[in-house]
Amino acid sequence: MNINGKHYRTIWPNQAGNGVWIIDQTTLPHRFELVELRDVGDVVRAIATMQVRGATLIGGAGAYGLALALQDDPSNDGLAEAYRRLLTTRPTAVNLRWALDLVRSAVLALPPAERGERAFCLAGKICDDDVATSQAIAEHGWQLLRACWMDKGMPDRLNVLTHCNAGWLATIDWGTALAPIYLAHDHGMPIHVWVDETRPRNQGASLTAFELGCHGVAHTVIADNVGGHLMQQGMVDLCIVGTDRTTAAGDVCNKIGTYLKALAAWDNAVPFYVALPHSSIDWTMQDGVGRIAIERRDPAELSQITGRTADGRIETVNILPEHSAAANWAFDVTPARYITALITERGVCPASRAGLAALYGAAPASTFVVGSERHALRTQQ
Ligand code: MRU
Repeated sequence: MNINGKHYRTIWPNQAGNGVWIIDQTTLPHRFELVELRDVGDVVRAIATMQVRGATLIGGAGAYGLALALQDDPSNDGLAEAYRRLLTTRPTAVNLRWALDLVRSAVLALPPAERGERAFCLAGKICDDDVATSQAIAEHGWQLLRACWMDKGMPDRLNVLTHCNAGWLATIDWGTALAPIYLAHDHGMPIHVWVDETRPRNQGASLTAFELGCHGVAHTVIADNVGGHLMQQGMVDLCIVGTDRTTAAGDVCNKIGTYLKALAAWDNAVPFYVALPHSSIDWTMQDGVGRIAIERRDPAELSQITGRTADGRIETVNILPEHSAAANWAFDVTPARYITALITERGVCPASRAGLAALYGAAPASTFVVGSERHALRTQQ
């Protein structure tokens, strides 16, 4: 992704190989700031405070976090403690567990002195793999967007609705839900995106709108409750969202509010697509409703709002009565029956056990390819 003419990923190693740089997502869209993370504590804090966020980015950050921990303490105890600290930062997105398991499996059999370097190298490969995966999602999704546009008689605007941020800021580069949109735009398709603001943290208003603007994609930010009305009015051609965890049977856990959009899309016969990489599939789980750990975050995210004042200051203000309670569930689960199809790096498939198995095989959980290396996953130490 380019910002002011310069290409960035969302995370990259520092020159000395003893830390990583990230884009601080808590200051966007008002300030573009880079932060260097030098140890596992920095990474834990960055994930927990959402300086880095989005399913696959927290996977990549977690992998680097484990590598930095092993550079400081490569013992088995050090590995176990860093794994535990990182895993508990954000419970919902399965990518974090996937990446931590991958790194842990790769270093366990090594002598401690070799673990830090090996883990750092693997974290880099996980990030490279994520970029290639996003590019493949872009290709498959773009074909789908083009087919939809042509079916509709090539209107002068194809309206896509998205929720939260599943763009390059949520991944290492390109994104998941937004990747096909970028490619469609680059191919000259007239695409316009309805951007759900995505309360309470407003990832749509602050991050998706920022990204789409950087790429020159036409977009309009809407309040979260508007999508259903737009669908009834025929103003949404299709929806594409990302996911933090999709079960082996195709239930999709994503940012809170996704489920309501899927219900509205179902009622209005608007296609509802979910774009995801292999690392977001939880092969250990079938039914998502009631089973996936839904992160509950600080109610202050709901009771306070941050923005830029007319004279350029960034300020946070309270918006609730002083004594009102607030509750902040961060994700929900959309049952597979409301999802038109899944867009993966291996192609488009029905949101079902059979659909995913047709793309990934019957027992894909035990091995994964990162770069040219095949890794066996061990989930127990
Ligand atoms: O709480 P967040 O901002 O990390 O939630 C992110 C989302 O819900 C994204 O849409 C999701 O991570 C999928 S994109 C890789």
